[in-house]
Amino acid sequence: MPIRVGRCAGFCSGVRAAVRIAEEAAQTRPCACLGPLIHNPQVLARLEEKGVRIVESPDEVSSGTVVIRSHGVSREVIELCERRGLTIADATCAYVVRLHRLAAEASARMPVCIVGQADHPEVRGTAGWCAGDVYIVDSIESAGRVPLLDEAAAVAQTTLPPLQYKAITDALAERVKRLVVYDTVCLATSRRQREATELADWADVMIVVGGRDSANTRKLYETCKERCPRSLRIEGPEELPEGLDPARDNIGITAGASTPDWVLKEVVNRMNDIEQNAPVPQLAPTESQENENASFMKDIEATLIPIRTGQTITGTVVQVTEDEICVNIGYKSDGLVKRSDLVSKDVHVGDEIDVEVVKVNDGEGNVLLSQRNVVSRKNWDALMTRYDEGGYVEGVGREAVKGGLIANVMGVRAFIPASQLSQRYVEKIEDFVGKTMRLKIIEADKSKKRIVCSRKIVIAEEAVAKKKEAWDKLAVGEVVPGVVRRLTDFGAFVDVGGVDGLVHVTDLSWGRVKHPSEIVQPNQEIQVKVLSLDQERDRIQLGYKQTQPRPWEIAEEKYPPGSIVSGKVVRITTFGAFVELEPGLDGLVHISQCALSRIAKVEDAVEVGQIVRVKVLSVDSEAKRISLSIRAVLEDEAFMYSDDIPGESLGDETAYTLSDDSSDSTSDAPY
Ligand code: F3S
Repeated sequence: MPIRVGRCAGFCSGVRAAVRIAEEAAQTRPCACLGPLIHNPQVLARLEEKGVRIVESPDEVSSGTVVIRSHGVSREVIELCERRGLTIADATCAYVVRLHRLAAEASARMPVCIVGQADHPEVRGTAGWCAGDVYIVDSIESAGRVPLLDEAAAVAQTTLPPLQYKAITDALAERVKRLVVYDTVCLATSRRQREATELADWADVMIVVGGRDSANTRKLYETCKERCPRSLRIEGPEELPEGLDPARDNIGITAGASTPDWVLKEVVNRMNDIEQNAPVPQLAPTESQENENASFMKDIEATLIPIRTGQTITGTVVQVTEDEICVNIGYKSDGLVKRSDLVSKDVHVGDEIDVEVVKVNDGEGNVLLSQRNVVSRKNWDALMTRYDEGGYVEGVGREAVKGGLIANVMGVRAFIPASQLSQRYVEKIEDFVGKTMRLKIIEADKSKKRIVCSRKIVIAEEAVAKKKEAWDKLAVGEVVPGVVRRLTDFGAFVDVGGVDGLVHVTDLSWGRVKHPSEIVQPNQEIQVKVLSLDQERDRIQLGYKQTQPRPWEIAEEKYPPGSIVSGKVVRITTFGAFVELEPGLDGLVHISQCALSRIAKVEDAVEVGQIVRVKVLSVDSEAKRISLSIRAVLEDEAFMYSDDIPGESLGDETAYTLSDDSSDSTSDAPY
């Protein structure tokens, strides 16, 4: 006769995680656990050996690490640990974390009914996360004692049987006008119960392994006993009674949620020894057994969601290991996501993730899930929408291949032909590896999983858009910033925000300019005035000198009569010399004002290019005339020098020969 072991027997994911967290925490000393971690003496003894002591309150711990067991605790206890400076090793089960969150969120809006045992640590802890009124409801009768309310939320202790929760919330709905029922039941317990029922129906002897104090194991034992009168409850292999005979009897074995795998294994090994190494088959109920259990299973399965291959479901992560994560999807079995099918790098217990059902049963009773498929499908949908809209996507160069580049575009492998990488010939495609680029999808075939992109089109389109934007911003008469791009003999090309305009050489300065380089240099940032725009011919005429005041406008103020300034002789005529005071501002020194004595011709006193000091005699901005005098400067200097000659007085005309023609005669000057 065979031995059958329940597939759901032993640790649930929450307890398994709690034991692991406690064992890791035990490596730091001192380490304490708030209450017994699980109801299993072997595990507790092992933890005690590793130095984990059990305390009732954080007040009993002065330093080190405190382990919070899978039942969770109230917010107040967490805060107390933090105030005492203790390190928290939080082993609260993911289902309980979710329960806390839902209860806390709901309590901010309405009263909360927690359905469960009032003295259970999980129920007490959950109440401690609620902000408003909380009612603990443990039966249909106590539901009847809840005051009449307009609205309330109901949450359940995670280990409550689903049918019991349903019955109590039905009763609560009589008291509450609008009852929001949250499904917070963890199905690990009901699954184990259901499986034990099936096993007990088949077995002649049913062995239930688990701690004596474990309520979960007791319930399991009671269930089995109802179906199989020869049910035994043991804590370990040493309690197996004499006279068990697998050769004669069907032996069923199950274990409570707090029974470690190694204890269960020892029991199974002992039974196998008795059966002389008989193999241990997996649970496979017969057709008749299935019929007998149909009604019970129907009730349970009514609380489970149906799933099918390809379906996308939101699940809660209940366990994270190196190779895979375990996700509760509300189905009779939890689902597994292999690391290779996981996209999120940082996944934690309690996180909600979208997964796709790859296989409803992988042959070992597990649901195979993939997050990658969901993400990939979403990415493809987004890519196809972008393709239809003609929008851009972002891609990162991954690998140079023959004829182009492979890029990662929204998690999808895309190809960029070399000719589409740039507007110029690309010599080294590798230069684009690791580079983030804006791309345009030019070919997309979802069924063939083929995406072809172009960077060249994006560059061209961006240039056109930038140019249009630049044109739209420009207006005749406005002064805009620009950068000198290049110089030619006839002017300077200036980039004014994406388009180039020309500053003609005559518009560079109010003065005479032989070459633009006298005024500006390439890459110089300057302000320019928009003189004219011709979008059709793509021509922009700019002015640089127009951004500066006209010299004649400020000449009277800048060069008051009597002031002495320096200037450069730029031209000589028969009646005088023209002196440039600044670009665009020339004054005339009449021949009679060129020297102290009369001269026959202007060249006798000055020459072109010479820097001379001149006195301003008069400024007429309207007529654009400035009269200057070199002689007056020389006279002033002579008078100053005369201070050093004893007996001679200032203004002694005998000391100098002044021209009779000292009056300003520039008004007739033909300039
Ligand atoms: Fe276990 Fe957590 Fe469920 S501790 S029984 S998985 S609520």
